[in-house]
Amino acid sequence: MAKIIDGKSISQQVKDEVKEQVSKLAQEGVTVTLAVIQVGADPASSVYVRNKKKACEAVGIGSESYELPEETSQEELLKLIDTLNERPEVDGILVQLPLPGHINEQIVLDRIVPGKEVDGFHPQNVGCLSIGKPGFVSCTPAGVIQLLKRSGIEIAGKECVVIGRSNIVGKPMAMLLLKENGTVTVTHSRTKDLPSVTRRADILVVAIGKPKMITADYVKEGAVVIDVGIHRMEDGKLCGDVDFASVEPVASAITPVPGGVGPMTIAMLMHNCLESVRLSGKAK
Ligand code: GUN
Repeated sequence: MAKIIDGKSISQQVKDEVKEQVSKLAQEGVTVTLAVIQVGADPASSVYVRNKKKACEAVGIGSESYELPEETSQEELLKLIDTLNERPEVDGILVQLPLPGHINEQIVLDRIVPGKEVDGFHPQNVGCLSIGKPGFVSCTPAGVIQLLKRSGIEIAGKECVVIGRSNIVGKPMAMLLLKENGTVTVTHSRTKDLPSVTRRADILVVAIGKPKMITADYVKEGAVVIDVGIHRMEDGKLCGDVDFASVEPVASAITPVPGGVGPMTIAMLMHNCLESVRLSGKAK
């Protein structure tokens, strides 16, 4: 029987800690504000944006919301970012992805000043992570590290295998595990004989984007399995990239879907917003 890593409860711990720090800052007269921009009305994005605003409210972070029409031009969006970049009372800027097809996402993300780019997607923040300088770290992989640490799982010296090499999850995940002194292997769609590689893992992080793809055949007895995927099945239920029923009996610890990695992403966003105030020198 694997230990179930409870992302709901660990994300609440993180948010409670952020809330306490935000309230201490408020006593010193320092506020924390996140600007959230959504272009168009993609239903999934609207849910994420609503949850981000709710989380801000819960921890005492102010939020400004910019809901722009689908036909907003790239120039208009860049102009808004310039304005937010210059306003000292705005600490974090988040542009919800995906953007409509006529807008170049990388140009938009690159326009946010790195010190306010709380998603950790800006090339400067990505670079800082890889050379160990302070900066914002992508929220989902940062959340995975918190899940491991707060569950008492040692990373140093462990064989860590990451499935997936996206800029948002796989690559920063590998960097973070390396920073924690794990021995890290990154696998992807062109990896030969994937199960033989993943069976080496003491810690297996799965971010492949395919429902229930990882079965017990991919997992060493006693491994810790972290499932970053989330999919809605035909019956309306949610599942991850890991076939939970197959893997749970083999693993020593595993994250469920829902209630594992998912809630950590927004908690780490709140952490990054707080961090932005510190990085800017507005607070000690
Ligand atoms: N769309 C899906 N995930 C994310 C995320 O973490 N940040 C932003 N900005 N957009 C997203």
